[in-house]
Amino acid sequence: MTTVTAAKLRTIPSLSGTSPVLDLTRLPADPVTFFYEWLDGALASQVAEPLAITLATVDADGAPNARTLIVKDIDDRGWAFAGPRESAKGIELASHPAAALNFWWQPLVRAIRVRGPVVEASRADSEADFALRSAAARRDLDSRDWVLWRLQAERVEFWQGSPDRQHIRIIYRFIDGVWSLS
Ligand SMILES: Cc1cc2nc3c(=O)[nH]c(=O)nc-3n(C[C@H](O)[C@H](O)[C@H](O)COP(=O)(O)O)c2cc1C
Repeated sequence: MTTVTAAKLRTIPSLSGTSPVLDLTRLPADPVTFFYEWLDGALASQVAEPLAITLATVDADGAPNARTLIVKDIDDRGWAFAGPRESAKGIELASHPAAALNFWWQPLVRAIRVRGPVVEASRADSEADFALRSAAARRDLDSRDWVLWRLQAERVEFWQGSPDRQHIRIIYRFIDGVWSLS
């Protein structure tokens, strides 16, 4: 017997929390630098598992699929995540190499959205990621079946909610090899 019913869903708070002060006049020129600034804030505020993402891909018929993963690495080469080549995401990325990924950090009321094409990392990088997994996590898996992918961001949105609904949305777009802000 549960206490929550469908009728009660609307009474559960959303966008609760407090956003840090954001100086819009001092935004970094690229989203990776800005991400690390926000990650510093998330760690200082003890956000639980700030590297957990929702990763969305599409299958060969264009049907979407989303799942929770951990981001492994973020730099100019892309936003890296890993998994078995024969997983649904591996099969979907092989037929349609593009994805979107989201972070949601509470109680900072901050979300980050990233989308773009996905490339497979070098075999050495995939093997290095596999080697970092615990012995238990490596069990029953062959390192050759393990793939590190990098989402090469074309658009990154930093969103900060506000109780008065004056939400802030900062969008970086990669156009002709240069990041621009809007
Ligand atoms: C917090 C969390 C972290 C996860 N990290 C990974 C990961 O790094 N790689 C992975 O393949 N699956 C990870 N999973 C499992 C995935 O959510 C998913 O079940 C699995 O990847 C299969 O997805 P797919 O069949 O769509 O490929 C994680 C799940 C959770 C809840």
